[in-house]
Amino acid sequence: MAARLATVRSSTRRQFAPEQAASPWWRDAVVYQVYLRSFADGNGDGIGDLAGLRARLPYLNWLGVDALWINPHYPSGGADGGYDISDYRAVDPEYGDVADLEALVEDARALGLKVLLDVVPNHTSDQHPWFQAALADPDSPEASRYHFAPASEEPPNNWRSLFGGPAWSRTPDGRWYLHLFAPEQPDLNWRDPAVAEDFERTLRFWLDRGVDGFRVDVAYGLFKDADLRNNPGEYSPTLFGHGPEQAMTWNQPEVHDVWRRWRAVCDEYPGTMLVGEVCLADPAEIALYSRPDEMHQAFSFRLLKSGWSAESFADGVRSALDAFGKVGAPVSWVLGNHDKDRQVTRFGGGEVGDARARAAALLKLALPGSAYIYAGDELGLPQADVPDAAKKDPIFHRSGGERSGRDGCRVPMPWNATPGVGFSPRGSAQPWLPIPADWRRYAVSRQARDDRSMLNLYRQALAVRAEHPALGSGEATVSRRGEVLTVRSTAEGRSVRCVINMGDHPVLVRTAGTLLLSSAPQVTHTSRRSLALPADTAVWIAED
Ligand code: NOJ
Ligand code: CA
Repeated sequence: MAARLATVRSSTRRQFAPEQAASPWWRDAVVYQVYLRSFADGNGDGIGDLAGLRARLPYLNWLGVDALWINPHYPSGGADGGYDISDYRAVDPEYGDVADLEALVEDARALGLKVLLDVVPNHTSDQHPWFQAALADPDSPEASRYHFAPASEEPPNNWRSLFGGPAWSRTPDGRWYLHLFAPEQPDLNWRDPAVAEDFERTLRFWLDRGVDGFRVDVAYGLFKDADLRNNPGEYSPTLFGHGPEQAMTWNQPEVHDVWRRWRAVCDEYPGTMLVGEVCLADPAEIALYSRPDEMHQAFSFRLLKSGWSAESFADGVRSALDAFGKVGAPVSWVLGNHDKDRQVTRFGGGEVGDARARAAALLKLALPGSAYIYAGDELGLPQADVPDAAKKDPIFHRSGGERSGRDGCRVPMPWNATPGVGFSPRGSAQPWLPIPADWRRYAVSRQARDDRSMLNLYRQALAVRAEHPALGSGEATVSRRGEVLTVRSTAEGRSVRCVINMGDHPVLVRTAGTLLLSSAPQVTHTSRRSLALPADTAVWIAED
């Protein structure tokens, strides 16, 4: 197979021909999600930071991604991994300062990398000065920026926190306040215009510092039913997302006006973009968030939430292509993030999980649209077994240990095959979450030297994708035979097929074309027109 592998050019940056310049960068960008706290520790306190990330930008450039999205970097109460923000226009001193962020953006730009920040408009931290003022005085203007209800025996409605327990907690003076996540994350009242105004200031603050856009947390939230009526049913975490059973809490029509205003702000900064986290069950409803005058993208989580089955994957791909196609937006494909168990583990663990994660990566990177890669997935990191005593996730603590929580996908990155795995400088404090003893085997330094590693598969795939017009863009058709799924994409008169065998047995695949890349090293052509595709393997075949 090696002989037939397409040559990987040393430059991985996509070069736009003049006639393509009209297509904005984000439509087919590969975006790398940096979990800042766990990426690289520059100052040796055991916590990842902006200086550490800045020093590792050449790695992201070498890997071949187009952009990075940084999980929240703001001062925070620390109750939910930084998603409880106490100051939206500052940097948490644990991570550096605003000058560090500006320096990062500048270095990234010099390497051709875009930078997206995370913005969290649904709730603040309970440490935010607004909430503190609201607690101190029920009649303060700040109190109307949250959802308070008078003291009473029972909470005002039947809403539940996504992290477990009721969505209402009491203030020290007996009032109720709403929090759809942890009690330390009070929900904002977007019917108060001061809230919208302040967020627009925040957007401009960071856009003025040169960032290329934002990932928008809980973008389907913000507005609640005006009368805070009971939800008709209970949310089940097995669903793809929220549906009519939670109709009072999520997806209120008013929220779309927020995205229209934010889009107008971004339009003042050409080339910037918004990608929304929209956890709704119906793909058509999700796509509405990326209509031409709203956010540029909304994540498609179907593959992230699908088990290893060609039928589920086919449905995930088809439904997203259909829904986003109708509004003219690219699909933003996601297989892993900081909220979900690592792919290798989700897909079965061990060698099987590893083979499947490799195959899934090729499928994702072949699909038209933009692709998001969660830091560490390119190393094939499994879900780490974090001891309960070290866990930080409120999901674990609020469920009384019933739900294992998300710490296992947030463990620091292994960079070197040394005892501390190079996350912090030598002789530093312990990492903020313990790194499993055997993670040296996943180290970047080790995988970079191994042609067959997961890391080199990603790197090759990104390089081939950057060169081939039909990988990451174009028109796609999806077909399935049993456990074999084929996506055929065509752009500029050239076609590529990604064939993925999700079954238990090898299959014979007709290949009238050139094998560009395979997720498994042992794939061979059995004749000029066919190849044996092992179980849990994907290939890219260019039609000549
Ligand atoms: C979604 C984020 O991805 C998750 O990590 C966070 O806990 C919730 N939103 C609440 O902000
Ligand atoms: Ca640090």
